[in-house]
Amino acid sequence: MSKVRAAITGIGAYLPEYRLNNEELSKMVDTTDEWIMQRIGIKERRILKEEGKATSDMGTWAVQDLLKKTGTKPGEVDMLICATITPDMILPATANIIAYKCKIHNAWSFDINAACSGFIFALSTATQFIESGRYKKVVIVAAEKMSSIIDYTDRNTCVLFGDGAAAVMVEPNFEDLGVMDYINRVDGLGRHHLHIKAGGSLKPASEETVQNKEHYLYQEGQAVFKAAVSSMANVAAEIMERNNLTSEDVAWLVPHQANMRIIEATARRMEISKDQVMINIQKYGNTTAATIPLCLFDYEKQLKKGDNVILAAFGAGFTWGSTYLKWAYDPK
Ligand code: UT7
Repeated sequence: MSKVRAAITGIGAYLPEYRLNNEELSKMVDTTDEWIMQRIGIKERRILKEEGKATSDMGTWAVQDLLKKTGTKPGEVDMLICATITPDMILPATANIIAYKCKIHNAWSFDINAACSGFIFALSTATQFIESGRYKKVVIVAAEKMSSIIDYTDRNTCVLFGDGAAAVMVEPNFEDLGVMDYINRVDGLGRHHLHIKAGGSLKPASEETVQNKEHYLYQEGQAVFKAAVSSMANVAAEIMERNNLTSEDVAWLVPHQANMRIIEATARRMEISKDQVMINIQKYGNTTAATIPLCLFDYEKQLKKGDNVILAAFGAGFTWGSTYLKWAYDPK
């Protein structure tokens, strides 16, 4: 019997109905559809508008979709990991709230805060628990209500982000399919270029922090862009080399969806043609931790058992990494 590997065995998702398109944004800030399409590649993003609804609600709907699709009873789940930077509240963890709302009562759960790398960091974490032999069903849910931390008067950031959630089931596989390798990296120096200035222990909320708009996401776009292009492309190339993969061996690149130009640079570095790259940035924008599983959700029917798939992400922290997996099931 071959080594136990951790394999994704199903995907669920939830996307809010409201579509914020470039035309509407151009009435809110000084921007145009042409600028956004040329510089980023986004047409519209989904926004959770319902009063009183939060990240945990989108996460819950995505997990419920996953449980239904995989025929899993809530009581069968051993562990739930939530990747998010927009938790419902500072504490408790959003994972705990999602587990409660999904009636997942026999599991333990926690959040992972790795921004746009959240899904791949969570997948590497889930892999350890599956490979240990102790856990059989681990749910990863990546959920973000980015609209809750965006200043819709700031054209530098408001055109970029959207809301959404996606969830995957991770289970043991004995056919040598699933997560084959991963490389994850961080560099805390990069935190200055992409962060939220207030609301944490360094600068608790005050009248002044609210007036100064310090609870919104702050990004120095060009610095992040430069780091993202080189780090994401290099780490994806590194994982290919380490596993003796050429571009012909790779069926799909699944890159984080922050900017079409970053996606294209990564594909070029891997010598992969654009039709092997999962792209849905035009529909959802940057949903932070949720971009990669939302791509897998959208392309699920095109994935075949045994396909070599490379995931690659870069985000605030800085955090970045790449995962190599062999897809574990044919379209259902
Ligand atoms: O997912 C987490 C990681 N994040 C990323 O990977 C994002 C990385 N960064 C980027 O994708 C890009 O830097 C942005 C899309 C954020 C910005 O694109 P850019 O090509 O780097 O533009 P820029 O910031 O250098 O700005 C160029 C010009 C500026 O005008 P001036 O100073 O040259 O007159 C900006 O004010 O574009 C202006 N600008 C806009 N114009 C129209 C910035 N935002 C907009 C806008 N519409 N929405």
